[in-house]
Amino acid sequence: MRFVRKDVYLIEEVKDLSKTFYVTTPIYYVNSDPHIGSAYTTIVADVVARYKRMMGYDTFFLTGTDEHGQKIMRAAKEKGMDTKKFVDDLAQRFIQLWKDLEISNDLFIRTTDDYHVKTVQEFFQKMYEKGDIYLGKYEGWYCVHDETFWTEKDIGPDKLCPVCHRPLEHVEEENYFFRLSKYTKPLLDHFRSHPDFVEPDFRRNEMIKILEEGLEDISVSRTSFDWGIPLPFDKKHVIYVWFDALINYVSAVGYGRDDEKFKKYWPADVHFVGKEINRFHSLIWPAMLMSVGLPLPKKIFAHGWLTVNGEKISKSKGNAVDPRVLVKAYGLDAVKYYLLRDITFGNDGDFSEDNLIVRINADLANDLGNLVHRTLSMVNQNFEEIPDPSKEEKIDDDLKDLLSRTINDYFSYMDSFKFTEALISIWNLVKFSNKYIDMTEPWLLARDPSKKERLGTVLYNLVDVIRNISIMISPIMVKTSKSLIDRINQDLDVNMLGWHKTEKAKIEVGEPLFPRIDTKVWKKVIKMAETEENQKKAEISIEDFAKIDLRVARIKKAERIPKSEKLVKLILDVGGEERQIVTGIGLVYTPESLIGREIIIIYNLKPTKLMGVESNGMLLAAKDGEKLRILTVDGFVETGAKIS
Ligand code: ME8
Ligand code: MG
Repeated sequence: MRFVRKDVYLIEEVKDLSKTFYVTTPIYYVNSDPHIGSAYTTIVADVVARYKRMMGYDTFFLTGTDEHGQKIMRAAKEKGMDTKKFVDDLAQRFIQLWKDLEISNDLFIRTTDDYHVKTVQEFFQKMYEKGDIYLGKYEGWYCVHDETFWTEKDIGPDKLCPVCHRPLEHVEEENYFFRLSKYTKPLLDHFRSHPDFVEPDFRRNEMIKILEEGLEDISVSRTSFDWGIPLPFDKKHVIYVWFDALINYVSAVGYGRDDEKFKKYWPADVHFVGKEINRFHSLIWPAMLMSVGLPLPKKIFAHGWLTVNGEKISKSKGNAVDPRVLVKAYGLDAVKYYLLRDITFGNDGDFSEDNLIVRINADLANDLGNLVHRTLSMVNQNFEEIPDPSKEEKIDDDLKDLLSRTINDYFSYMDSFKFTEALISIWNLVKFSNKYIDMTEPWLLARDPSKKERLGTVLYNLVDVIRNISIMISPIMVKTSKSLIDRINQDLDVNMLGWHKTEKAKIEVGEPLFPRIDTKVWKKVIKMAETEENQKKAEISIEDFAKIDLRVARIKKAERIPKSEKLVKLILDVGGEERQIVTGIGLVYTPESLIGREIIIIYNLKPTKLMGVESNGMLLAAKDGEKLRILTVDGFVETGAKIS
């Protein structure tokens, strides 16, 4: 690869053809429901992979699924399914999702893949031989949802997970431990000597703070269930799912299996992760690598969380939008443009359908669409093919200068994952080009045969800029870029970035790139999902309400239904009568915390069976998304009291 015009843009990296680039997303919990927030990490990583490929790097882009652990095992049991069959089916959903979103990953890794299982065991054996693994007893708290251990000092008196606020489970097990504490100092040294190891900087500072407080050894095996990779030196134990998962980044590129490939791609250039899993990637993973003597990844970039229309994304809120629904309504390129343009990468951001529509209408249909349509129609009305440029005027120099500055900025922004800034600078060029049209008034030039040469120059310059724009947007808006470059019959080649490199060719005006969305008649897709969910129920009469017998009850006993994550069996006292009900509050309340509480039940609900267990009545609770709180009485009343 060679740049012809080094005077215009100088990019160090592209000079070396042998360069490789290894970029990863986290591996997704295979049983999670992918929504626009979770797809965000992969969409961004895909843009980076495409950009690096365009820049001539031998690029390896990895994504996949995280399939072991207690959470997944419980979910399979709840469905009454064989766990392997369960994860096989679910992994396909992710494979299909990334296909539908045209994600260009080079490999899809599953932690149940044989080669990964083998690598994890070898990796562990090495840490063991190094003296970094020892047998101990773990006593503390565990969040099954996040598969995370917490110590007393991390949590409050309510024993809720500091990340997802679900109730923690008390764990007391003989576990193997990793001497993480030993790596506090080497990690601090690494952070200090590699100031851009973790980005953005405010997230790096969080990590440094944790390091300065000192790391504690962590539990790395479990014995209470078996859905995981057995420890090579003690088969009673399965490896802690996070250790298993992190090792995917080296097993995917051939660690211990394909030395040539491994040497080529490791260390990774960047791990993209969400902020809540930064700690695992920036502290634990590097310590594991130090233990086995491997070089550390060059960068961990921890991005923020997306909300949808201002609310946390959750299935029960109906805003867990399947990204495909958005893509179907607005097109993949528009959704990606919006995500990268409006949400500053690194910070939390809100996915607002209204703002998406504004971007489509203003930036895509209006700014870019008009530039392309006006330019290409005028070329076709006045010339057989793209005309030749001749003598340039002052305004042409302004356009030329802006173009070369834009190209330079584009490279430096894309190299530092500043997508918003990269798109802003490209769109400044788009806007200035529209202004260039207004100022040069090509429609007037077209009326005067003596100005044909000037008309040719103006239109050539505009086609030349459109060509440059097509190349720059190609990692983000793949289809649009291709469609533009095809209309003007040029090559999508990064070497051809720069002023006046458009070849003679016939052009085609084509259809409008992005039709305008008429907000007066347009039906928003997120709104629809929300209203369906939140629809008010039909009105009822007081007589209808009187049919429901609500009573106060006291919880005497509470225990989990075996093999269920959510279901809890309650034995109640209702005015002296003993009642059994089964209720789905096990994700939010521990059974112990329920005993003695006064609750409200529907007393005359038809009995039913849940997972084979009889339930005679129903408990009332308030639900707000994933938050759930049981209803209770304000002050003491006898159990059995009626509610009206
Ligand atoms: O954490 N906004 O997997 P996961 C932005 N298996 N990003 C979001 C998001 C939101 N609303 N919701 C989820 C795991 N994500 C582990 C990883 S890696 C060795 C193991 C992102 O399925 C989240 O931050 O819970 C993470 O980067 C990715 O989706 C997968 O999350
Ligand atoms: Mg998560």
